[in-house]
Amino acid sequence: MSTYKVGYFVGSLSSTSINRVLSRALLRLAPQDLEFTELPIGGLPLYSPDFDSDYPAEAQALKAAIAASQAVLFVTPEYNRSIPGALKNAIDWASRPWGQNSFDHMPAAVIGASPGQIGTAVGQQSLRAVLSFCNARQMTAPEAYITFRPGLFTDNGEVTDDSTATFLADFMREFHDHIERVLTVLPRS
Ligand SMILES: Cc1cc2nc3c(=O)[nH]c(=O)nc-3n(C[C@H](O)[C@H](O)[C@H](O)COP(=O)(O)O)c2cc1C
Repeated sequence: MSTYKVGYFVGSLSSTSINRVLSRALLRLAPQDLEFTELPIGGLPLYSPDFDSDYPAEAQALKAAIAASQAVLFVTPEYNRSIPGALKNAIDWASRPWGQNSFDHMPAAVIGASPGQIGTAVGQQSLRAVLSFCNARQMTAPEAYITFRPGLFTDNGEVTDDSTATFLADFMREFHDHIERVLTVLPRS
């Protein structure tokens, strides 16, 4: 297997985020040859086209980190049947200035956790629509809607339930294979 650099977004700014815990579990369970770097979103100002001619340092750093990645992973809550504003703001920064869309042809995967039964399904559909417009090459299957219940994960991302651990490990292996397929036909410089 080849080694790939994966930048990952955690869509929550909460200090007690269950999606951050999920991200820790995914990093633990992923194939060894995926290397992960978080793409921080919390320090970004709100995007405005007024910045297009002179991006602030935080936004330049985000675009540079995405450019250094060969794939992106989104681990995000559902907010009001969509995605958190902070994550949308980060995507807007990365998608601009016009003609310099960081997600163009980028292999991408989406996953999320919520305490509710539908496990971010609607929020993920909203995110998929955004990523589709941004021309990211999304993994469409398997989908992963994680219903978070207390005790399912330890704080540092150990999974206490074997079937969940197997499911998440399979998801990450499929993501690896998806990255490989996309980069075979759309190599990144
Ligand atoms: C502003 C807001 C909107 C929310 N909307 C939804 C929702 O649409 N669907 C859902 O399942 N949970 C919703 N929730 C509950 C979240 O799933 C829950 O707070 C979860 O812990 C957020 O993920 P995090 O812990 O990673 O921040 C919402 C929470 C907040 C604060």
